[in-house]
Amino acid sequence: MERIELIATCNFGVEAVLKEEIINLGYDIRKVEDGRITFMADVRGIAMANIWLRTAERIHLKMAEFSAYSFEELFQNVKKIEWERWIKKTSIFPVKKAVSLKSRLYSTPDVQAITKKAVVERLKTVYKVDWLEESGEEYPIHVFINKNNVTITIDTSGDSLYKRGYKERQSEASIKETLAALMVTLTPWNESRELIDPFCGAGTILIEAAMIGLNIAPGLNRKFVFENWSQMNKEELKSIKKQAFNAIKNDLDFKIQGYDTDEQVLKIARENAENAGVADYIHFQKRDARDISSSKKYGFIITNPPYGERMEDKATVEVLYRDIGKAFKKLDTWSFYIITSNEDFEGLFGRRADKKRKLYNGMLKTNFYSFLGPKPKRI
Ligand SMILES: C[S@@+](CC[C@H](N)C(=O)[O-])C[C@H]1O[C@@H](n2cnc3c(N)ncnc32)[C@H](O)[C@@H]1O
Repeated sequence: MERIELIATCNFGVEAVLKEEIINLGYDIRKVEDGRITFMADVRGIAMANIWLRTAERIHLKMAEFSAYSFEELFQNVKKIEWERWIKKTSIFPVKKAVSLKSRLYSTPDVQAITKKAVVERLKTVYKVDWLEESGEEYPIHVFINKNNVTITIDTSGDSLYKRGYKERQSEASIKETLAALMVTLTPWNESRELIDPFCGAGTILIEAAMIGLNIAPGLNRKFVFENWSQMNKEELKSIKKQAFNAIKNDLDFKIQGYDTDEQVLKIARENAENAGVADYIHFQKRDARDISSSKKYGFIITNPPYGERMEDKATVEVLYRDIGKAFKKLDTWSFYIITSNEDFEGLFGRRADKKRKLYNGMLKTNFYSFLGPKPKRI
């Protein structure tokens, strides 16, 4: 089968985890850069990566990489690409996005326009037509320029991969599914251990944890732009999805816990868990995080508390952090994993973290603090 290069994009700080995910799927890594991992695959790999990778934001098909210091160079190099290998005479091919960092070609609208013109020129010549009707399946083109090095790709995902399809309704300050999956992956939690998210909001962390525990592929409940491409064998795609369904562990018996003080938000969390097919594994309840309790040992708290980003909320959040510092002490064999943008968190919580990892929650710089409990003697 023809080898192709794919690029999985991710947020900064996620590269090591995503690289591991790609290796576990069986693909060879070519290059790891900030926010971008290039790997070798075949057309089947497009489906596998989109359906299975939990921490990737998008999967791109790499078309070319070259340096360009002028629009003429950009035009000529884009025109050289064998677009006809993918784009048919009637396909739609918008240049959806251009990003330029530290480069001479900094005007991204112009980069988009020149790229489009070059692809049109190429395809008009190859298909011997004066006009391309662009009415069929979509091949969204992306241009990424970094220090005058241009990478041209076709986006295979469509909607960003954090959109798993289970969140019909959002709650305020809900985190992305990819970040929640990352947080769970960065802990040693597995479904045989207790887990509480005492600030569960729309339930994202617990839903992602349950999906990881049950081995539910994150992309099983949504559509991707590549699914309409003629290059994607429909029978093969069906069989990949069927295999993913068969890989779900239906015989597990675990229950993880979510608390929130907001009844409306809990309603959304329950709906989301239902949509994701994990409602039987999560117990959501109206409860204050300060009232946390468990008779079980060696459990995990993985949580995304309020950050108090708005000035008027800052004082309230500081009191809350002090209070949970005291409340969590009751769970003296448990490990706590907490994400927040509050730089004073350790002081307020009253304990120095065993590990502190920089992560982005959207545009917001946060830390993911690990407070490790003792190792279980025998579980
Ligand atoms: C940042 S949001 C969590 C978002 C969640 N990770 C998600 O993906 O939807 C914080 C949540 O904590 C809840 N909350 C605030 N104070 C609380 C408290 N004392 N106990 C429990 N929940 C609280 C809020 O209602 C809000 O839903």
